[in-house]
Amino acid sequence: MKILIAYSSKTGNTRKLAEAIHLALPNADLCPMGSVPNRDIYDLVFAGFWVEAENACEDAKACLKKLSGKPVALFATLGAYPDSQHAANSLKAAAAEIPNANVVDHFICQGRIDPLMIEWMEQLPADDENAPTDARRQLWKDAESHPDDNDLKAVADWAEAVLEKQQATA
Ligand SMILES: Cc1cc2nc3c(=O)[nH]c(=O)nc-3n(C[C@H](O)[C@H](O)[C@H](O)COP(=O)(O)O)c2cc1C
Repeated sequence: MKILIAYSSKTGNTRKLAEAIHLALPNADLCPMGSVPNRDIYDLVFAGFWVEAENACEDAKACLKKLSGKPVALFATLGAYPDSQHAANSLKAAAAEIPNANVVDHFICQGRIDPLMIEWMEQLPADDENAPTDARRQLWKDAESHPDDNDLKAVADWAEAVLEKQQATA
């Protein structure tokens, strides 16, 4: 089974997940989403993105649009909590970018938010939807240490399980 791990990562969080998957599946090809040579040769694609505005980031969307019908396992990092409605909506929106989507599974965990982004949010007026609140500051603080070793182990275990399941159904 030919496997691709394609990822988009602005500040390195999602790249860490991609590398952990690659360590678990060393025969897979690993590459940034912008430089995938030929998608057609792969039987399974692990497609990784960072969440932007409750969806996949822009270059990931462009890549997902080219994965029509292909078995895709989505993985992502985001600032919000992984069990939040926001995380679920982001995964759903990303899956909807794929024509004839065949999403076989997904994984999502928190990722440290760019300090420049936090600086920007800190100066937003109180009526802005991203304005700082105690809960939001706690979220940003909680995100700081992610992805951590537990996340990297979890994503590696997840990838192995996804592959096993795909091989069983192939
Ligand atoms: C411009 C921008 C928009 C973002 N939008 C969201 C968002 O809508 N929801 C969220 O939970 N996190 C959001 N984040 C946080 C990132 O998704 C998170 O930090 C992610 O781990 C970054 O991954 P990377 O290091 O692979 O680039 C945003 C970050 C940036 C810079």
